[in-house]
Amino acid sequence: MTTVENDERIPNNVNLASDKRLQRALEAWQPSYLKWWREMGPSGFQEDQVYLRTAISVESDGWAHFDYVKMPDYRWGIFLADEVKDRTIGFGDLMGRPVWKEVPGEHRTTLRRLIVTQADTEPASVEQQRKLGASCPSVYDLRNLFQVNVEEGRHLWAMVYLLHSYFGRDGREEAEALLERRSGDADKPRILGAFNEPCTNWLDFFMFTFFTDRDGKFQLLALAESAFDPLSRSARFMLTEEAHHMFVGETGIQRIVERTAQQMKQHGVDHPDDVRKLGVIDLPTVQRALNLWFTLSLDLFGGEVSSNAASSFASGLKGRANEDQFDDHVALAGSYRMDTFRSGAAVVEQVPMRNAMNEVLRDGYIADCQRGVDKWNKTIAAQGVDFALTLPSRRFHRHIGTWAEGCADPSGALLSREQWQGKRDTWLPSEHDRAFVQSLMAEPVYDPHQMANWIAPPKQGIKGRAVDFDYVRREA
Ligand SMILES: [Fe+2]
Ligand SMILES: [Fe+2]
Repeated sequence: MTTVENDERIPNNVNLASDKRLQRALEAWQPSYLKWWREMGPSGFQEDQVYLRTAISVESDGWAHFDYVKMPDYRWGIFLADEVKDRTIGFGDLMGRPVWKEVPGEHRTTLRRLIVTQADTEPASVEQQRKLGASCPSVYDLRNLFQVNVEEGRHLWAMVYLLHSYFGRDGREEAEALLERRSGDADKPRILGAFNEPCTNWLDFFMFTFFTDRDGKFQLLALAESAFDPLSRSARFMLTEEAHHMFVGETGIQRIVERTAQQMKQHGVDHPDDVRKLGVIDLPTVQRALNLWFTLSLDLFGGEVSSNAASSFASGLKGRANEDQFDDHVALAGSYRMDTFRSGAAVVEQVPMRNAMNEVLRDGYIADCQRGVDKWNKTIAAQGVDFALTLPSRRFHRHIGTWAEGCADPSGALLSREQWQGKRDTWLPSEHDRAFVQSLMAEPVYDPHQMANWIAPPKQGIKGRAVDFDYVRREA
């Protein structure tokens, strides 16, 4: 088992002290990171005491320590899951060979791109969520937002460690650039589409942590299979943190629909206008936010047919999620049937398996999303309300892949672009929806004993604490 050094300037279990050059390089990056955090991290809460968990070991039982901390003092560390003894490559052309402890020269550029793309999403999401503290529904939720934010910061540290350790000067330059791009900035945007979209209210935030952080889970699962062992170990530990982010999203939406359905039943109202008058979010508005964040997140998996995905799989850089569950790890035989859009029409294509890896990863993601949606629908049904949320067709509202050229409604039926535009606001959040949701959240709730009207309280608090525990002590 690796030893965890918690007393050094940068907590780590990678024996950073043994490599003075690397340690100095990372210690030199640290002030730039903190400057970025103060500028682009949670706005207005940097001096408050927040009840946070901090990673202090990588053991599955009790790696986390819970205590009050000011966010800029959070102990962002470098943690890799323990090495798997005699680990071998689990897929592709090099199946069965020992994994790599260093980066092979021929894969340097591709690996760096994979790592930078993952890394870029981490600070991006912090930037997207930085203003949400000013409209929180409760102190419990405020704390969860900050927990997600500091852990995304730690994920950036995890990736920057790889860039600094294994990619020399290019890696150090990439690490600097990660602090220079800005979510939504026209001149220096973040790399991936969904990470430049505004996330300005808590309905968006919960949808983001449910759908977009879940893309993160699947990317990390695929990277956890990588032949480049430091990346695999890093991804495996990040996954333990990612689980909490998706919990925040899943329970957040579940509490919203619970409250709405309960109010609908209690007041005997059904029409969205009447539901809104009760100060809760009507279910069609929840559906439209779902449609937006689900489809933005589908795009993150890339095009349906991809030669990049094929070569990353062939060379062992990126596998499938839970590669173990597949029978054929070489994937040279067989093909994958998929629904694409070519020359103005929907076409069923047989694609060689390796070229279909993005779609395979997307399938696993969609099935995982469906499980959460089913739970939300159970919550709605339990209140006696007849309404079901659904995941839209993967043809709907796409910007990447063949369906970026086609227009389909959420059921998958093809439409002309004009028809689609005409109905856009029935499927995706309109300005009117946003203004309404924003109006519900105009007043933040900073009293730990209160909960905003539009959301049900959680079933339990954090780490055995009460729901109304003072998770964020305001110093202002
Ligand atoms: Fe992350
Ligand atoms: Fe996350």
